[in-house]
Parts: sequence; structure tokens; C-alpha cells
Amino acid sequence: MNAATRATAFCAAIALFSISGCGGGSGGSADGNMAAVDEDSPEFAAMQYRQGLMHVLGYKVATLRDMAEGTIEADAGVFAKYAADTATAADMLLEGFVGMEASSTDALPGSGAFPDVWSDWDDFSQKAAELAAAADEVSAAASAPGFMVMADSAEPLGPVCGNCHRTYRQR
Ligand code: HEC
Repeated sequence: MNAATRATAFCAAIALFSISGCGGGSGGSADGNMAAVDEDSPEFAAMQYRQGLMHVLGYKVATLRDMAEGTIEADAGVFAKYAADTATAADMLLEGFVGMEASSTDALPGSGAFPDVWSDWDDFSQKAAELAAAADEVSAAASAPGFMVMADSAEPLGPVCGNCHRTYRQR
């Protein structure tokens, strides 16, 4: 999402709260309006938490993939640690969503979590479990004696991020 789209989405969301000031003005108006978001709310904290966690996952998994593909130097020890970290982070994923319906795209500017996360909770949880299972599989293989990073070492992690994002994440 570029800055302009983000500002538009923000203003569309903020309109729900009948706050004026969106649309008009020059560059930087979004910053002024940011004060309208209650940054002390549990919903805002949950959004910050899960978005941060997603970036942790993104960094760890990109590194695993790059090592497997040989675009960066493979280090079996680092690979094993990052795989274990991915499994740990996957186990922490639902904590950023549970009970936080009011932090969906419909309710909280900046959120990329569709309301379906909560209305289809069992399926959403299942997608999180699939990520955890894939990470556990990669981690178990990487912690075996004599492990060496191979082209398919990160393969189980391939589809699991997108499988959830396709349905539940607004981009
Ligand atoms: C169970 C569902 C699910 C899985 C699995 C999942 N994500 Fe996400 N991801 C989401 C949702 C929902 C959002 C939107 C969160 C928000 O903005 O509140 C998101 C957002 C993100 C973002 C954007 C964060 C931001 O600051 O806006 C990144 C990056 C990301 N995910 C990376 C990943 C990676 C990498 C994986 C796999 C290793 C992954 N995700 C697995 C559901 C998932």
C-alpha cells in the first residue's frame, strides 16, 4: 500500500467515527489525524503486537528461504535457530488477535485484519496451526545431527503465510 492509498483507507475508516479533517488540506494531514486513534487502547496494542510479530516472521522466514536458495551464505546453526524462532513466533500469533474483534479493518485505522478473522475463528486458528506445524517440521529437521542446509530445507514454510493472508489480510 502506498502512502496515498494508506491515507485514503485511513480517512475512510476514520469517517466511521465522524471525525472531520480528512480529504482536505495538504500533505501531512494524516499525521494530524493520527491523534484520533486511541493509542492507549488494548486494540491498538494488539495490532502493534501482531504486526511486529508478522515482521519477525517475515525476517526469519526470508532468511531461511534465502539460505535454502543459496542467495545468502548457508549456516546450519543460524538456520536451526531461525527455524526454532519461527516456530516460537508462530505459537505467539493468535495472541495478537484473540478477543480483539474491535481491531479489524472495519474498526481500527491501520489494521489489515479482516473481520473474518473473528467470524471464522476456527479456520483462522487452523491456518495459524499450519504455520506452526510447518515451522516445527523445518526446525526438527534442522536440529538433527549432521544437518546441512539444502534447497528444500525451508519448503514446508512455502505456502503457509499466503494461505492465511489470501483470506484474512487486507493489502
Ligand atoms: C493465521 C493467519 C496468518 C498467518 C499464518 C500469517 N499471517 Fe501475516 N498477517 C495476517 C493478518 C491477519 C495480518 C494483518 C494484521 C494487521 O494488520 O492487523 C498479517 C500481516 C502481515 C504483515 C504486515 C504487517 C504490517 O505491519 O502491516 C506481514 C509482513 C506478514 N503478515 C508476514 C507474514 C509471514 C512472513 C508469515 C509466514 C511466515 C505470515 N505473515 C503468516 C495473518 C497471518
